[in-house]
Amino acid sequence: MASITIRQLDDALKRRLRLRAARNGRSMEDEARTILRTASAGELPEQSGGNEAPRNLISPALPPAAPSFSLPQECQNRVLLIIGGGIAAYKSLDLIRRLKERGLGVRCILTRAALEFVTALSASALSGERVFVNLFDPTTEHDVGHIRLAREADLIVVAPATADLMAKMAAGAADDLASAVLLATEAKVLVAPAMNPRMWAHPATRRNLATLERDGVIVVGPRAGEMAEEGEAGIGRMAEPLEIVSAALPFLYSAGAQRTLSGRRVVVTSGPTHEPIDPVRYIANRSSGKQGHAIASAAAALGAEVLLVSGPVSLPDPVGVKTVKVETAQEMLSEISRGLPADVAIFAAAVADWRVEKPNTNKIKKQPGASPTVSLIENPDILATIGHRDKGRPRLVVGFAAETEQIIEHAKAKLARKGCDWMVANDVSTASGVMGGDCNTVHLITANGVESWPPQSKEAVARALVTRVADALAGAPS
Ligand code: C5P
Repeated sequence: MASITIRQLDDALKRRLRLRAARNGRSMEDEARTILRTASAGELPEQSGGNEAPRNLISPALPPAAPSFSLPQECQNRVLLIIGGGIAAYKSLDLIRRLKERGLGVRCILTRAALEFVTALSASALSGERVFVNLFDPTTEHDVGHIRLAREADLIVVAPATADLMAKMAAGAADDLASAVLLATEAKVLVAPAMNPRMWAHPATRRNLATLERDGVIVVGPRAGEMAEEGEAGIGRMAEPLEIVSAALPFLYSAGAQRTLSGRRVVVTSGPTHEPIDPVRYIANRSSGKQGHAIASAAAALGAEVLLVSGPVSLPDPVGVKTVKVETAQEMLSEISRGLPADVAIFAAAVADWRVEKPNTNKIKKQPGASPTVSLIENPDILATIGHRDKGRPRLVVGFAAETEQIIEHAKAKLARKGCDWMVANDVSTASGVMGGDCNTVHLITANGVESWPPQSKEAVARALVTRVADALAGAPS
């Protein structure tokens, strides 16, 4: 019986076998064995034997081993990732993994310049999909084609978005596969710019950025930091993959969903407030802002115009949302009041109940054996102030009740006291892990009763809540 080794195969054949093995996560030997097994089971045409057999078996004319977009049934969301030519392209390989980890299908287009930084093989191996590079590729144009690539994406992510790619997008150019797809798509587009700080600051890039934002493109980053070029620092680093993923997810989950909050204005509070004792010390409640920020994102994803008034948090501003940052409860109330009228107000902030009556202008010095006394006064209750408004009250006012015991009873009493329509009650006892965590178990209290929702991520709570808000407003005049 004739025996062959991978080494005996010609270079072109080896390349194809390597690519196919990488796509399927197997060694080249295992891939060859799989091909032969499949052929001998009669699933593929009989070959003439010898070296010819594997050559034909891995020809591109055969269907790829993994069907494109082999998504779990419950998730049909697909991301088309356009990787531009910049040093940050290596981070986009990690981005592919992060998107895939969340059950999303990822197809990649690499620009010619991107191939100078990362290989199509890496992108293909990580995405488990064929990678696209050329606009006029006879194979891909006939079976996939740039129009299909554009149409089959629920979200297009351009990362890194170079100055050149942004310029092409702003001008509506279509002279390569990436720009042609971007011009042909109706999907939401998210760009993660990355470039030298001088290029980012250039008036041409500012103009292009403004055009893209006007066109509804979502922009994530860039961030400040050191550049790859020695001695260069400033704004121009691509946002980290996880930040891009969190910006992308609300748009993916809502892809295909109707923009049921379109034409509605939603105001949201989030995070803690910091009430100064002196220039370096403050009083605050514990709050990561994750739930409030997720609500703002989810409302924006359903098409709402969203104002997020946030206390100090270490989260990025949600994309597609106007974020105003405040420190104190008084500032939060005045920004929310300025932000009205609105159809809906959702109060997820953990506002400090008291503030120091007269914060010290200078740092209070420690005196051995003596503690300073600070006099506290009550902060305005933002939710109650808006909930009890006679004029200009949002149609739907939603509060949060973070409780550690008798959750529903306390939340019901709060709903009545604060004049809100709905109360979202949750257990924030230390054992629940809600504080700072990613999961939440909530009860929605409305005039119709109490609904207990299953434990789920804060993003899922946000999506469920804004969907309920949209249902409640359906049919009401804007
Ligand atoms: O009274 P308690 O802080 O438990 O109430 C929680 C609800 O009230 C939350 O929706 C919170 O955002 C809101 N709140 C507020 N202003 C305050 C205190 C709480 O808007 N000063």
